[in-house]
Amino acid sequence: MDTLTSIKTRRSIRNYKDETLDTNLIREIVEYWLYAPSAHNEQAWKYYIISKKEDREFLSEVMEFWKMLPKAWWCIIACFDNDCVRSPEFIQQDMWASIQNILLAANEKWVWSVWLWLYPHEEPMNKISQHFNLQENITPFAIISMWIKEGDLPEKNLKSDWKIEII
Ligand SMILES: Cc1cc2nc3c(=O)[nH]c(=O)nc-3n(C[C@H](O)[C@H](O)[C@H](O)COP(=O)(O)O)c2cc1C
Repeated sequence: MDTLTSIKTRRSIRNYKDETLDTNLIREIVEYWLYAPSAHNEQAWKYYIISKKEDREFLSEVMEFWKMLPKAWWCIIACFDNDCVRSPEFIQQDMWASIQNILLAANEKWVWSVWLWLYPHEEPMNKISQHFNLQENITPFAIISMWIKEGDLPEKNLKSDWKIEII
């Protein structure tokens, strides 16, 4: 699949196939965050791959919208390392860029994924930091859940027209 096709066929899918994503595949997918642009090239991102079901069960209780997590075969906690942040005002944009890279890479590797928001909601962020014993300098930002693709690609409900205004 080429990049442009991956952009158009990426979807947040919440159906689950009972098949394990292997470790090599997850390594291949997550590597792509490294290639995202970042402000001042700070590359402050840090990602944790959560493999244990009990941890995904814990996460599913943290937020109402995360009930799919115990069934996801892998999930990723996308964090940033404050010791590497030079431009705090841009860190969210850095994280968005790297997360999108992962979603597109997952799509290319035949893996459905969903981006679950977290930052800047302190209560769930604190629960996650405590549960996973994250160092003080590590801030959890978002969760990405993943599973093997199954079923048809749903239509994308585009809410705005594709119109360019050259001004
Ligand atoms: C910042 C952000 C936070 C999101 N949080 C959640 C979430 O908590 N739970 C969820 O099921 N989907 C979440 N999504 C996925 C969106 O619901 C999804 O992208 C949107 O419905 C469009 O569908 P598509 O991704 O298939 O194009 C999030 C997406 C973004 C960009």
